[in-house]
Amino acid sequence: METRDNMIPEIFRNFRKEFTVFAPGRINLIGEHTDYNNGFVLPTAIDRTIKIHFAANSTPYQSNVYSQTLNRSFSFDLRKIARSEHQWENYILGVINEIQKRGKYPEGFDCIIESDLPVGAGISSSAALECGIAYGLNELFNLDLSKEIIAELSRDAEHNYVGTKCGIMDQYASVLGKEGHLILLDCRSLEATYVPAEFEDHKILLLNTMVSHSLASSEYNTRRKECDNIVAMINERYPEVRSLRDVNLKRLQEFKENISETLYKRAHYVIAENDRVLKAVEAIKSGDLDHFGLLMYASHKGLRDNYEVSCPELDFLVDFSTDYDAVKGARMMGGGFGGCTINLIEEDAIDDFVQKASEAYERKFNIIPEAIIVSPSKGTYIRKN
Ligand code: GLA
Repeated sequence: METRDNMIPEIFRNFRKEFTVFAPGRINLIGEHTDYNNGFVLPTAIDRTIKIHFAANSTPYQSNVYSQTLNRSFSFDLRKIARSEHQWENYILGVINEIQKRGKYPEGFDCIIESDLPVGAGISSSAALECGIAYGLNELFNLDLSKEIIAELSRDAEHNYVGTKCGIMDQYASVLGKEGHLILLDCRSLEATYVPAEFEDHKILLLNTMVSHSLASSEYNTRRKECDNIVAMINERYPEVRSLRDVNLKRLQEFKENISETLYKRAHYVIAENDRVLKAVEAIKSGDLDHFGLLMYASHKGLRDNYEVSCPELDFLVDFSTDYDAVKGARMMGGGFGGCTINLIEEDAIDDFVQKASEAYERKFNIIPEAIIVSPSKGTYIRKN
């Protein structure tokens, strides 16, 4: 595989795109680390995207990808797809591998990637890239892949080529988001209910800690294994239990003596978080934003104390928000160990809050956080001109 850095490859000089795929990032209102436990999540696509310009190049196998954002390119033969030592290439190669595994064969193509999504911010730039590539190849070569299959194969690419054993939430939200709505997704059945994102005069504000601790990927996979271990133990006594989704707090209590305190805390968090997602949907539907805000804070507390995936930077920003009546709720978002907090805040108070939070955060960590206001948007789409 040939990789050239810091130059627009010759091959792209006469590039004429056939269409552009817009692949959005995602936020998650509540329901963290529940997706791979077959539970509930409440994400949505956002109005920030990765743009991928596509064209078939009339060769059977030769393909070329150029990332304008990274100023890097690589070329490969579609008959020889293999993992690369450059991680960003694996998002693309992994998707092609999964498409081929499903008996579909894209032909030679060229694409140019431009990203408006910060990497490491926990808004799923990787899922957007994977799904955007799959979406574009599906269109270019009429592969007849449904949106659900595009989400699933993109998740599998992340497992098999990138190495994170993620759940389905990010890919599903990026592809199947709907303007102005949140997705209540049952990650066991993949049944989605679209909930209007009606927050009166409130907005969704992300505060990017600008840190991304290296623990993220290894600890993520460890959490997943811990959950599998608990389920295996409960399953010995209760064979109908296949995931933490099938366990309630009362049943977990029966095992308290047999499992370590750590495993007990992990399971307790997941079971309580699933419950919070369903309560959150009721609160949003009935316009009870105070209650929804409290559920967000409770989610953060569980992630911090029981699931132990937060970090001092995230905790600081969430704690800071509790002094502001204008902030209904805040919590860390995504896998953890860095990235963004998500805040539900009165629109009029945003400027003041961002300024004060930024000053305090900078004083404490010597880092300036980034504020991003987002709105629930449609999932992956194509524009032809
Ligand atoms: C990452 C993963 C998701 C999900 C979240 C935590 O974003 O990719 O599948 O598990 O973490 O909720």
